[in-house]
Order: sequence, then structure tokens, then C-alpha cells
Amino acid sequence: MSTAVLAAPFQAVFDANSQEFSLVGVIRPRSVDEIAHSITEFRRAIDEARGVLYINVKRLAQMNNTAFHAFSRVVLDACRTRSDIRFVVVTSSVVGWTERMFRHLGKIEPQITVEVYDSKFYPGQSFVEDTSFIPILRAQTKMTWRHERTILPRHGMRPGIAMADICCGIGDFAVLAQKEFQPARIVALDHSKPSLAYAREVAAEFGVTGIEYTYGDASEMLLEDNQFDFVTCRHSLQIFNQPELLLKELYRIVKPGGRVYITNEKNSHCLGEPRAQSIQWTYNELARLLSHFEMDVELGPKGRRYLADAGFDDILVESFMITNLDGDPQDFADVIAGWEKMFAAMAARHGEAPEFIDRFRQGFRDHIFAALHPKGYAGWPIWAASGRKPL
Ligand SMILES: C[S@@+](CC[C@H](N)C(=O)[O-])C[C@H]1O[C@@H](n2cnc3c(N)ncnc32)[C@H](O)[C@@H]1O
Repeated sequence: MSTAVLAAPFQAVFDANSQEFSLVGVIRPRSVDEIAHSITEFRRAIDEARGVLYINVKRLAQMNNTAFHAFSRVVLDACRTRSDIRFVVVTSSVVGWTERMFRHLGKIEPQITVEVYDSKFYPGQSFVEDTSFIPILRAQTKMTWRHERTILPRHGMRPGIAMADICCGIGDFAVLAQKEFQPARIVALDHSKPSLAYAREVAAEFGVTGIEYTYGDASEMLLEDNQFDFVTCRHSLQIFNQPELLLKELYRIVKPGGRVYITNEKNSHCLGEPRAQSIQWTYNELARLLSHFEMDVELGPKGRRYLADAGFDDILVESFMITNLDGDPQDFADVIAGWEKMFAAMAARHGEAPEFIDRFRQGFRDHIFAALHPKGYAGWPIWAASGRKPL
């Protein structure tokens, strides 16, 4: 576990609507008496539940044997008296020990099953957590940083702050932010083990210290409430099937008065000249294709609404266009070549016909053609938005 993973105080909460009993934080009682109240709450949850009772341990940072045995005793007893009820323990790979520990109960009583929630969050997850995504992320950040470095101070970035980059990918944004703005603390969290391994390797190679790379699930973070002045989450709400869950967590960890900064795209607004029609067709189809993977790559302009609905005020929204004229046009071409490969694989996974995939790929190639053409113009628009957590 990383030093950045700070355990929340222990909580045992029953939500009758979703029939979910959640254990959160660090639970290390010296005797069962210390957790008598939580055990009573657990018994009440079982009494009230019909059909299935979910036992959510996704944010259970630590549990000692005293607590484990006390809760296990209650659930095992219930299996004997309540044949009408099933228990589903929902764990997360972020707290991998819980899966091993609770699996034993399933071996004793078939009424108890264990599910690892984040082994498959959403249909497109495997694509964004794969090593083949690394060069795409690297090329993208190279292009976006030129714009973001001037935008960020308007949204709350400044020296000396505590910041978190949630869904940090390969961590290159955190490195650039550290060099340019010298925050006092940076936590960079992602759910892709290959991306984090890459980030740590690059940091070691270039002597970058002070960035706390953390494995975690952005929708269930083990980070404490109200601890960051500035929280960034770039290009990620749009690939997550429940962006509002992520925003709830971003809101939770930012300090009152602090700001959350998000960037997202609207892929159907990617453009190029010449060959505009072919390019337009492909990006329209891309938005449609990704919706089948529960990703909303049209989310950019919706950022204002998402931030407002999550409770933020003083919302700022701006957009910028990455173009082939920003620097070396080959950088732009590299980004699009990466997209072509990844999105063609997703189209094949979705079962699109070979003729469709050929035409789909052609639009990306035409975008590259426009980017590298001596008189061409190619663009990729991005929306940056931030909101303040009310004091
Ligand atoms: C499109 S990438 C953006 C990465 C980075 N912010 C950037 O702009 O280069 C989305 C990132 O979200 C991560 N991710 C997806 N679901 C996540 C989750 N539930 N918790 C943490 N990270 C997640 C993926 O592993 C991936 O690195």
C-alpha cells in the first residue's frame, strides 16, 4: 500500500434501499465490545434484507482477526437460520487481502459468494488499462500540455498546494505539473497496473521524487476526505460508465474552497482539411461505437452540468483546439495513429463488419493526411472545466 493511501476512520453503514452493508476504513478492535454497535447494525441489516444482502468491503483498508471473526460469526449463523437469503461480499483488487479473507466464508457456506467489483468495471476497461495504451497517453499529453500549462493557473493550480491527479494514466501530467508549478504534494492515482509501473519507472529513471503513485479505484478511493487544494481528472470521466460516481469522490477528497479540474473531449468535433467528410464520418462513428462500451466521448461540453450536479460552484469552462500547427505535425499524426489502432480493435470487438472497419480506419488516415499536408489543418478539441467545493 502506498503512503498516499490514508485510511478513513471506521464506519459500518447499512443502506436499506440497496440492501448494502458497508464496512469502510480501519477496523482493529482490541475486543469485540469495541465494535458491538457495528455488529448490532449488521444483524439489523440481515433481519431487514430480503433475497440478497451485499456486504461492501471495497474501502475496508484494514481489519484484524477479532473483527473478522465477529462479523463472520454473524453471517455464518445467519446462513443456518435464513436459507432464504444470499450474501454477496463485494471486494476490490485495491484491497486484495479482503478477497482472500472472505473467500474462506464461501467455502464454508455456499450462500456466501465473493465478487471482485473492479475486475471488470465497464466494457472498455481492458482497452484503457492495457500496455498498448501507454504510447497514446504519452503522445496526447505532449500535445495537450502546451495549452494546459497556461490554462491551469486560472483553475486553481499554484505553487505549494496539495494536489491529486486522479486517473493519472502514465503519470506524465503529474511530472509536468511538478516541474512547472512546484506543488508541495502530488498524489497520482490510477487503476492500470501497467501504466503505474511505467510511471514509476520513468520517475526513477529521471530522478523525479515526491509523486505518490497510487493504485486505486477512482470511484472508491482510500484517500481521506478534504485533503487536497486541487484535484485533476483528465480525459477520464468520458471513459467511465458512471462519471457522477467519480465526481462524488473528487468532491469528497478536495478541501472546501479547493477546486476540481476536469478535461474531456467531444470526438465528433474532431476535424480536418482536406478530406473533411471522411474524417467527420469516422469521428461521428467513433462516438457511436464507444457508447456501446459505455463511454461518452462527447462529454466535453457537458462538464459544466456534471460539476454543477455534483455540488460545485464558481464553475469555469473553456475549450481549446489541439492542432497540427501547434508544434511538430508528426506529434499530431502519432496521436491519431494510436487512436486508429485502438479504436479499430474496439470496432472489431464490437463485431463491426470488415467493410465498416476499413472505412472507419480510413477517416483516421485522412486525419493524419490533413495533419501532415503542407497546406492542411487538423484539429482535436478539448473542454477544460473546473468547479470550487463550497466553503
Ligand atoms: C483516457 S486515460 C487518461 C489518463 C491521463 N489522465 C491522461 O490524460 O493521460 C483514462 C485513465 O483512467 C484510468 N481509469 C479508468 N477507470 C479507473 C478507475 N475506476 N479508477 C482509477 N483509474 C481508472 C485508466 O487506467 C486510464 O489510465
